[in-house]
Order: sequence, then structure tokens, then C-alpha cells
Amino acid sequence: MKTILEKNGVNIRYKPVGQFEETRFEKIHNVIFTDSNQASIKVAEEIAALIRKKQGANKNCVLGLATGSSPIRVYEELVRMHKEDGLSFHNVITFNLDEYLPMEKDNRQSYWYFMHEHLFNHVNIAPENIHIPDGTLAPNKVIDYCIAYDEKIKKKGGLDFQLLGIGRTGHIGFNEPGSHYNSGTRVITLDHITLLDAAPAFLGIDNVPRKAITMGISTVMSAKRIVLLGWGENKANIIKKTIEGKISPQVPATYLQDHKNCTFVLDTGAGSQLTRNKTPWLVDESLEWTETLTSKAIVWLCDETKKSILSLTDKDYNDNGMSGLLAMEDSYDLNIKMFNKLQHTITGWPGGKPNADDSSRPERAKPARKRVIIFSPHPDDDVISMGGTFDRLIEQGHDVHVVYQTSGNIAVSDTDALRYAEISKRIAPSEEAQNIIDSIEQKNDSSFDSLEVRKLKGNIRQGESYAAVRYLGLEDSKVHFLNLPFYETGTIKKNNLSEKDIEIVQAIIADIKPHQIFAAGDLADPHGTHKVCLDAIFESLNRLKTESYMDDCWVWLYRGAWHEWDVDEIEMAVPMSPSQVLKKRYAIFCHQSQKDGVMFQGDDSREFWMRAEERNKNTAERYRALGLSHYAAMEAFVRYKF
Ligand code: F6R
Repeated sequence: MKTILEKNGVNIRYKPVGQFEETRFEKIHNVIFTDSNQASIKVAEEIAALIRKKQGANKNCVLGLATGSSPIRVYEELVRMHKEDGLSFHNVITFNLDEYLPMEKDNRQSYWYFMHEHLFNHVNIAPENIHIPDGTLAPNKVIDYCIAYDEKIKKKGGLDFQLLGIGRTGHIGFNEPGSHYNSGTRVITLDHITLLDAAPAFLGIDNVPRKAITMGISTVMSAKRIVLLGWGENKANIIKKTIEGKISPQVPATYLQDHKNCTFVLDTGAGSQLTRNKTPWLVDESLEWTETLTSKAIVWLCDETKKSILSLTDKDYNDNGMSGLLAMEDSYDLNIKMFNKLQHTITGWPGGKPNADDSSRPERAKPARKRVIIFSPHPDDDVISMGGTFDRLIEQGHDVHVVYQTSGNIAVSDTDALRYAEISKRIAPSEEAQNIIDSIEQKNDSSFDSLEVRKLKGNIRQGESYAAVRYLGLEDSKVHFLNLPFYETGTIKKNNLSEKDIEIVQAIIADIKPHQIFAAGDLADPHGTHKVCLDAIFESLNRLKTESYMDDCWVWLYRGAWHEWDVDEIEMAVPMSPSQVLKKRYAIFCHQSQKDGVMFQGDDSREFWMRAEERNKNTAERYRALGLSHYAAMEAFVRYKF
């Protein structure tokens, strides 16, 4: 059978992980890769092949292009191909999907700036072949401009290829919910969720333009070939709705179900909610029941039937696509095994219980006093995500070190920084304090924080971290700030992980020689700081794996502020009493610059302590619903075996 790509005349095979046949639930062809990097390279190869094929026929290649975090790696690869493999863009004509309104070209947040920074400045495309909607137009000029934009696409022969990302509202381009199937290029008011998602880049939602010019749905649908990119768990729900749901203006991306040559290229995170991945037993009766899958299915079955594990019957299994499991064991055995497995994840001794039988505990009893590193990507992830466990580790006498990987300076507001600079100036007037005050007061949309301002902001966060961990009883000598260089760009966009970053992380592990490492295993945002920090740890572990002390080192992953592990994945669940919940709350309160409408709120307007409490309570409730003991709250960890 020919792949869709081959039908398109481009002989590239995507090699997805797992099965990818369209199932009865899926209405859009999709391929899932373990890694967005590999996936992006494949997409870049498809685009390059198309450009070359058109060159061979002496024709122009008309590309519709997207901005945002999703296509960045594709553009990087196209630039690499241009520089190293001689890929020429002389026959390429581009039309970008959208631009904010109003928006100046030289504003760092403009899509004009983005496209030049990531692609156009580095390849041999003729400037007159670049088309990006103009965000500087006067209101009375926009309608004619939009009509002309669509006309121009047609005049150039139509879009040969359209690259898309997808917003959490289901927007493609900026076609927000309510967009009509026949819509052309036009002005649109951005959805609140889109404004929230854009807020970090604009340093606050109030700075995000409310409107944009976007190519219409019909413009996008007219493309001969469409590839939509989706990375990370944050996209998983909207990807599921788009691929499996009904076509609806409320989820504009569902219109793509009608396109004849469209592929969604996803990573495992973005594809994780698709029925064939989340509940494969519902689509495949000949499934191989691994232990992981069995746990996942039983937890799901309890949710579905609203029963505890030990109350599940053969009929429950049979009625819900899990009869294959019963072929090997009856429900009684399955239930007991699963119950015990979960029971053994619960421990009040996250560093191991001294002098106890540890054969069915998550952690080893020995050594009784462990050296522990808690890695925290930002200066508050430690207390937000594992404040209760942190507290217990100290209380139970372990040698705990907390290691803050980045300075977190970008997340301190100018108002906070100004307040500290003014206090400093009032106490002891200095040139430095005055420079900081001047620099903040003179800041505009396209300027960065000066080095001094960034230093002050980093110091504010350090002070807050000290306050929080002192409150938990940790000595200052056990607190380490790495200020990893990849983070220190002064902008939202960070550098890639460098050798220097890895060396710094490696050095602290080698120095402390830990028995336990706790790290943020946050995979929700594949481009985010947490992922880069985790990569630095993984690479360091890899380099240190032959050291003898590493044989005794266990790595536990917690999740950042946004998500929690699924119950079936959890390997250590640390219960918290109501008073420990309060203690954790007060530790989070110490991070004052991150309270009350912080800049990097994401889609959840609650403060971090509220989210943490809700999430820890939720984990405890889920354990209770499965028939295990009922605690006030629980923190959860998964062991990483390297
Ligand atoms: C960008 C665009 C948007 C983005 C979407 C996803 O030109 O039109 O539809 O593709 O908002 O953005 P990221 O990739 O940043 O998640």
C-alpha cells in the first residue's frame, strides 16, 4: 500500500513507533514518533524533497508556513540542509499563516521577526517571495489586504504544502473556535486560551494583542498537502478531539478530516490520548498484555465502572474489551496482584525505612542515612512538586542537598525588581541600584533586561529559595545554585543545552555522590526548561554511569507544576498529613515573586500552592477510589532506571 506521502509524489517514509493504522476512532492519518526531534527532521525532509522535485520540473514551490514552538526544529533542519546539503530556496515562495494585529515587524514577538530569525535570514529565499500578513495596517485597509492575500496565493499557483501547528483551542492558523469552513484570510479576535498561551512570550497577558490576521480555513484547506505538527502532552487532548471527534466549527482543526492529503506528525506525548494509545484494548482484541498495560487497563476499568480494584468482576473485564486478560488469570487474581502492587507504592519513608524489611517497599533500607540530591529546574519546583517528601527526607535524617538548576530570573516582574532596587538605594545609595532603576524605567517592548537587572531578579529568587528551604529545616550549606548558562539569554527563548551545562550538572553529582536523586521528569513541554534540565541530568548520569558510587544511586522523577503521573505509573507515593499539607503551602508562599498573577501562569489561573494542593489531594483520592487507604494528600514519583 502506498503511504500518503508517496501518493503525493514524495518518496519519504515516516517510520512511526507502534501501530498507526487508522482505527475506527481515527479520521485523520497520523504518525507518532518517540521524539519530536526525529519527527521534525522527517518533515523537513519531505519539504526539501518537494522543493527539489519542483526545481527538477523548473517550477516554483509554494509553501504555507507556521510560527510558534512546533515548527522551530523543522526550520532548523531546513537551514542545516541549505548550509550543508546545498538545498536551495531560489524557487520557494512562502505565505505565512498569520500575524498579530497590531504588530510592528521589528517587535521580537512578531511573526515577521520569528520567521526571519528561524528561517529566512539563513537561506537564499528572495525577499519578494516572502509573504507574511502585515500587522501594521490601518483598520480601513485590512479587508482589501486580506482579499488580496488569498488572490496572490492563487496567482502563484496555490499552496503546494501547508505546515501547521495546533492551538489548544483547536485553532489552525488563528482560526479560533467558531471559524467557518468557507472563511478566507481575515481579521480575527483571539480566544482567551490563545492569549493565555501567548502570555509568557509577551511577559503577561495584558501585553498580548487581542487580534490577528489569519489565513482562513478555506485557504488552508486549498493546500495540496498539509502536515500538522503536535508535540507534548499539552496538545494531547486537542489532538484526540481533532482526530477522533466530529467535524465542528468549535474545533476548527477538525475540518482537516475532510482534507484528502493531510498527515498529523506527533510525538508520543501529543498522541497519548488517542484511543489506540490510551485504551488500546478498545481497538485491538489480540493485544499483548504486558504488565504495564495490565496496570493501566485495571486503573482505567476502576474509573470506568466506579469500582475499587477488589470489587471488579469477570463481567467488568469482559464488558470493557479486556476479556483477553481473563484468558490468563481470573479477575480475583488480577485484582489481588494489582491491589498489592499499588499498596507497595505507598511509603512514609521516601529515603527508605531503616531496619525494616524492604523487599516490598519502593526504597532500600540501607544505607539508613542517604545522601540525596533534589534537582529543581526553577527555584520553586522543589517545594511545589515535592515539598512534603522534601520535608520528610530532612526529618528522617538524610543528608539532603537541593540543587537549583536555573536562576529563574525571567519570571520576576519589573515591578518586583524595581521595589528591591529602590529599597537598596534608600538604605545605601549606590550607582548599581540607580542603574537598575534607570534600566527598568527605560525598558520598552523590544529591549532585554540588562545584566544587572537579571542579576537582581536571580537574587530575588535565590532569597526566596533560601527562605523556603530554611523553613523546612535545611542548612544554607546544602543549597546549590547552578545558574545553568543555557537559561541565561534574558529572553523566553533559551539556548540549547551546551557542554558547559552538562559539565556543571555532572560536577555536582560527582561531588555529592548521591544515593538518591530526585528530578523533574516533566515531559509535557518538549521545548521547555524542565525538559532541558532533565536532559542535562540524564546526560550527566550517562557519563557517570561507570563510577562505582553510581551503582547505589536511584533516580526518582517527580512532575512539575502542571501534571501528575497516572496512578498506574506511580512507583512511590508519599502520603501527607493535613499538617504537612499546610507546611508545604507555607514553603511555597516563600516564593513571593511567583504569587498573585505570575507571568508564567499557563492555562491555569490558580496560584502554584493551590494547584499543588489540588493535585496531591487528587492523587490521594484516586488511591482511595481504587480501594486503598485514604490520605489527605500524596506526592508521586516514578523511578528512572539508567
Ligand atoms: C502559528 C499559528 C498557530 C500555532 C499554534 C500552535 O503561525 O498559526 O496556529 O501553530 O498556536 O502554537 P505552538 O506551536 O507554539 O504550540
